[in-house]
Amino acid sequence: MSDINVPKHVAIIMDGNGRWAQAKNKKRTFGHKAGVEKTREIIEACAEKGVESLTLFAFSSENWARPEEEVSYLMELFVLALKREVKMLNRNNAQLRFIGNISGFSQKLQSSIEQAIEQTSKNDGLCLNIAANYGGRWDILNAVNRLNRAADSDQSITEDMLASELSTSGLPDLDLMIRTGGEKRISNFLIWQAAYAELYFSDKLWPDFDALELNVALEEYASRQRRFGKTGEQVCE
Ligand code: IPE
Ligand code: IPE
Ligand code: MG
Repeated sequence: MSDINVPKHVAIIMDGNGRWAQAKNKKRTFGHKAGVEKTREIIEACAEKGVESLTLFAFSSENWARPEEEVSYLMELFVLALKREVKMLNRNNAQLRFIGNISGFSQKLQSSIEQAIEQTSKNDGLCLNIAANYGGRWDILNAVNRLNRAADSDQSITEDMLASELSTSGLPDLDLMIRTGGEKRISNFLIWQAAYAELYFSDKLWPDFDALELNVALEEYASRQRRFGKTGEQVCE
């Protein structure tokens, strides 16, 4: 695969942990544990491929509605993973960032997040963005409210102004959005940012998605023609 067509910014909806576990007659939480293991492989593969920015959907603003046992397991898992994975991130020169309403988490989780961000802040390779307590509508509303507070009342908001207040500000435009687990929806992920992203849906459940599957997605991306509203001939000129 030619490196020229490696997407700069890849986002992944890591879906299917629960079904993966249930198919093995295990609790859904077993699937989340396996899902975290898989995340490591995908982060390393992206770093190796030269992807600049990887945004992973770890917990949506709607996932609070799940059974309390599952939510608290996920929170504990996040704390553990943050502690454990800093070494791997440093080995891969990956800088950790978070997007989402982090203030909605416990103090314990918030400090683990801050610590991990700090411990990887000198890295200048892959930018790994974890979307946690994230919702695309929240992101847009947040940006609009910030602009509202700052702007003159008669000033119209432009696309650039809004984009610069989104949680992804400063990151490359989203090129490729992958969803595992067979569902074909965006589930309130990067709804503004996905406007011209290529979409790739995999039937693999997240714990079964691996570096080879990622390669298939990247190869398909490389073979697509992005037109951004123009004709195919214009794009080839
Ligand atoms: C995605 O897997 C992980 C999170 C939402 C935290 P799911 O837990 O949604 O797995 P399925 O879709 O129920 O199989
Ligand atoms: C999206 O998956 C959120 C994450 C992967 C973190 P969901 O499982 O929550 O999405 P729906 O409910 O099937 O749309
Ligand atoms: Mg799901």
